[in-house]
Amino acid sequence: KKIGNQREEKEQDDSLPLREKTSNSGSPHKQLSQFWYSQETALRLAKEAIAAAGECGRIACVSAPSVYQKLRELHREDFSIYIFEYDKRFAIYGEEFIFYDYNNPLDLPEKVAAHSFDIVIADPPYLSEECLRKMSETIKYLTRGKILLCTGAVMEEEAAKLLGVKMCKFIPKHTRTLGNEFRCYVNYDSGLDREISV
Ligand SMILES: C[S@@+](CC[C@H](N)C(=O)[O-])C[C@H]1O[C@@H](n2cnc3c(N)ncnc32)[C@H](O)[C@@H]1O
Repeated sequence: KKIGNQREEKEQDDSLPLREKTSNSGSPHKQLSQFWYSQETALRLAKEAIAAAGECGRIACVSAPSVYQKLRELHREDFSIYIFEYDKRFAIYGEEFIFYDYNNPLDLPEKVAAHSFDIVIADPPYLSEECLRKMSETIKYLTRGKILLCTGAVMEEEAAKLLGVKMCKFIPKHTRTLGNEFRCYVNYDSGLDREISV
């Protein structure tokens, strides 16, 4: 059962998630459980995705828009990227934006083929078994194998059960202090498991 936005904010911060101007406000949406990575963490995760995806790799960012944005800033000719997001403000990214609601995990456009991404990075909006289970369906549909999940430490057991991922040593940071311990999980040999912080 979904139990709401568990990642409580300790500080108020209206920093913009969108680094490109939109007609809408770019403030985090509390109802959408939007908590953004620090620049350093977004960069670290983007570099990890590129390394894991390999040459000309395909990377899916599922509910992780700041990793997608960071990837856009890097060497884009070397890989392809898509952003799967519920917040339509990110539709400014055109063809690379795929509207996505975890409640309908396989309701994806035809152009999104099964197992067509070298790595899927996902950050579910809620710390609930239901949300992770549904998003896991999407992740398993999209990936050719590699998974990088970012979620609360409390989800460790569920994540291992649903996706076969294990917790990394790397500790992701956010622009706001979260009330829950937050971690990354992978199902492959990753640099994120060889370091303690960014
Ligand atoms: C905790 S944030 C993760 C963002 C990540 N930390 C980042 O910096 O890119 C959760 C994300 O899930 C998205 N989201 C909210 N409701 C959703 C839904 N029903 N289906 C899919 N994604 C949703 C939010 O818009 C937000 O981007």
